[in-house]
Amino acid sequence: LARGTAAPDLGGLHVVVSAGGTREPLDPVRFLGNRSSGKQGYALARTAAARGARVTLIEANTGLPDPAGVDVVHVGTAVQLREAVLKAGADADAVVMAAAVADFRPSEYATGKIKKKDGVEAPAVTLVRNPDILAEISADRARPGQVVVGFAAETDDVLANGRDKLRRKGCDLLVVNEVGERRTFGSEENEAVVLAADGAETPVPHGPKEALADIVWDLVEARVDRAGR
Ligand code: CTP
Ligand code: CA
Repeated sequence: LARGTAAPDLGGLHVVVSAGGTREPLDPVRFLGNRSSGKQGYALARTAAARGARVTLIEANTGLPDPAGVDVVHVGTAVQLREAVLKAGADADAVVMAAAVADFRPSEYATGKIKKKDGVEAPAVTLVRNPDILAEISADRARPGQVVVGFAAETDDVLANGRDKLRRKGCDLLVVNEVGERRTFGSEENEAVVLAADGAETPVPHGPKEALADIVWDLVEARVDRAGR
């Protein structure tokens, strides 16, 4: 379906999309972060809204403007993202975790700026694990028939790692992106394949993020439990 001519095939559904990357503060002026732009999550939110869904977009540190016709919740950290996903996901037909969630956060937050100290080379930063939001919402579905989607970027053994991650997370769909390597003569090949818990594997050719988003919504729509509504 071309954008703008989309049939409202997601009408009556509430979908939740997380986008961006969490930032884990060390002190009031510093954080551990990642390079996620949030563009794929925003494309998912826009395409779902265009197809008639009620959309809640949970945004972490993208700096992108709120898309029209979408409820946006702004968060910073993985712990805040978890709270927002659990809250918005409570009545959602589908939850798509496109955000890059920090696996770890500093074990301590300094309420004052960390300063250099004479005679001390450098302070050590210790980390603790963040909650695994995707695994949690997959294991403990807020609604029966809720469809849960994850994203993964892999460098090696993309399919094998993807299948393994799909099983470990317990989600229904996992969008696996190949990153790094595979670059010949300067052209950037970013192949994605959507793996489903029911065994379906859908290759997505290199293209705009909206095209991948539309394929994800097609696969979600085919699995969503409208009878449970
Ligand atoms: N994810 C999550 N909570 C986390 C970490 C990841 O919900 N604490 C979600 C991401 O939003 C993504 C999916 O899990 O949809 C896969 O993320 P990824 O980083 O590939 O998975 P990890 O289990 O963290 O594996 P790895 O050790 O390869 O980073
Ligand atoms: Ca990770």
